[in-house]
Amino acid sequence: MFELNLNDITPAQFLAEYWQKKPLLIKGGFKNFQDPISPDELAGLAGEEDIESRIVSKQNGVWDLETGPFEDFDEFGDRGWTLLVQAVDHWHPDCAALIEPFRFIPNWRIDDLMVSFSTEDGGVGPHLDQYDVFIIQGLGRRHWRVGMPDSSLQQHCPHPRLLQVTPFKDCIDVITEPGDILYIPPGCPHDGISLEPSLNYSVGFRAPAQKDLVTGLADHLIDHELTGLRFTDAGRSVPESVGAISDQDLAQVQQMLRAMIDDKDFTSQWFGTYISHAKHELDSTEPDPHYQHDEIAEYLDEGSVLTKLGGLRTLYYQSSPDADIQLFINGERYLLPTTEKAAVLKLTEQISLSMDDGKFFAEDEGRLALLTSLINKGYWYFTE
Ligand code: SIN
Ligand code: CO
Repeated sequence: MFELNLNDITPAQFLAEYWQKKPLLIKGGFKNFQDPISPDELAGLAGEEDIESRIVSKQNGVWDLETGPFEDFDEFGDRGWTLLVQAVDHWHPDCAALIEPFRFIPNWRIDDLMVSFSTEDGGVGPHLDQYDVFIIQGLGRRHWRVGMPDSSLQQHCPHPRLLQVTPFKDCIDVITEPGDILYIPPGCPHDGISLEPSLNYSVGFRAPAQKDLVTGLADHLIDHELTGLRFTDAGRSVPESVGAISDQDLAQVQQMLRAMIDDKDFTSQWFGTYISHAKHELDSTEPDPHYQHDEIAEYLDEGSVLTKLGGLRTLYYQSSPDADIQLFINGERYLLPTTEKAAVLKLTEQISLSMDDGKFFAEDEGRLALLTSLINKGYWYFTE
């Protein structure tokens, strides 16, 4: 387990003073940090078809970007490049553990863990990101500079798929060492240049734009064949111009859209389903053959421990303490009575289910059936 040490501040103070506001260097954020992955293992993941990876390089002043899978790294030489692998938490349980200390931010806001390996002088260049990030320094050291948002900065593409930013004034200028953490809010320019072969772990966040929400909403309506209300206009008067869309008609269209979104049952169902979908593929393997309830009960009784699949998004929504609970797991929704709150908390807040948790699930038929179906989807798996 990684234990986060925010130095002199509490998570509540961090959220009040820094989150989405200003960058922070957390020197020694993880004491005696041990890398959960080696550069060779990361290179192995970058060789997989299903895993998104890219190499950003700068050779003789020319930036380049290549996408994986990568078999061989010899052509890149021994300096001036960075390998970046997305959603490593989905494939590597020890790396997934690095996200856990940051769960003072709700599950739905957390995205994935990107891991990068840089050679000496490697980096992706000065840039802005749209999302908050905690960048953890693993192996090696890196020279990081971070600035505050600045509307005078210009973005440009030194390579068609690489967006960088013009020189910026920094408020943090540091050489990060193993266990140091940088928190960078969206829109803050930053640049990290490796001093030697180094590993960085980026805990990324999810912040949907209006476009994403509306697209997700439209997909939900289509998938569930939902039409909703239709425009009506009994009592219309003769218009001044037949070409015009009147303000009154436009207000009615806005009202129709608002009425859909204001329906909390509808919006919670849609949003929970939408936001619990992992963006990257999960490494889920359905057990073959599927387990029967009584087999699961037996394993749990014997003390087997269940681990949640890396990257699995588990969330819930309950509109009031005695209302039913909507449990969302990877885009699926389960409706449970409020009496199942303890089970919902175990499934959404914990990364594993202990022997005692197992007994708790085994003692109720409905609860055991839910757990069995989740195990049969490959979402929880026996590790002991
Ligand atoms: C990296 O690990 O090289 C990139 C992290 C970032 O700046 O977003
Ligand atoms: Co960045």
